[in-house]
Amino acid sequence: MSGDIGATISIFTVDDIVRHLRELGALLHACVHAGASIGFVLPYTEDDGEAFWSRKVLPAVRDGARLLLVAQTSGGIVGSVQLGYDTLPNQAHRAEVSKLLVHPAWRRRGIARALMVQLERLASRLGRSLLTLDTRTGDHAEPLNASLGYRTAGIIPGYCRDPLEDRLDSTTIMYKVL
Ligand SMILES: CC(C)(COP(=O)(O)OP(=O)(O)OC[C@H]1O[C@@H](n2cnc3c(N)ncnc32)[C@H](O)[C@@H]1OP(=O)(O)O)[C@@H](O)C(=O)NCCC(=O)NCCS
Repeated sequence: MSGDIGATISIFTVDDIVRHLRELGALLHACVHAGASIGFVLPYTEDDGEAFWSRKVLPAVRDGARLLLVAQTSGGIVGSVQLGYDTLPNQAHRAEVSKLLVHPAWRRRGIARALMVQLERLASRLGRSLLTLDTRTGDHAEPLNASLGYRTAGIIPGYCRDPLEDRLDSTTIMYKVL
């Protein structure tokens, strides 16, 4: 998928991840250093970024537990999002959206919205009718998710450490029925 966002969105296989490990690591590294609350804190190196993709994402994609969507321009990878669908039998209709990332130099062009729309289509095809996610309270992802139809289930205070400063932030738990 491409269009006026200036990027093409595709499903990444294990081979794609291996071939683009450095770029994926650089995307994660850039987002963490720009202050994104996505699981990591400084100090955070590009090697740390690569290790996340090779040790966490690659095995999950290989095992059919996770779907990885990547946005690319002619210059390289500019965004990604993941869908975890290795749910327990009583939640086979649910999947978890995570790690929506757009490189700081490529924001406000509709790339995140396009990634989410595409991910929802794929989630439907996988038979998933309930999507859940969490995002740091007050971050830009909150209005994005709300505009896509996600509803807020609640806020958990003191949930995660800020990547750059010594403080705990709240997280907002959201869901959408497809
Ligand atoms: C959140 C993030 C993915 C948005 O990426 P993006 O490609 O810039 O987003 P889009 O251009 O598709 O914008 C979609 C909507 O998000 C909201 N939004 C995004 N950036 C915003 C900003 N700087 N200020 C206010 N709203 C913003 C708006 O509602 C926007 O819709 P609009 O352009 O019609 O007003 C990006 O800022 C990012 O990577 N942040 C760090 C990682 C993160 O927090 N991920 C989400 C939690 S896991």
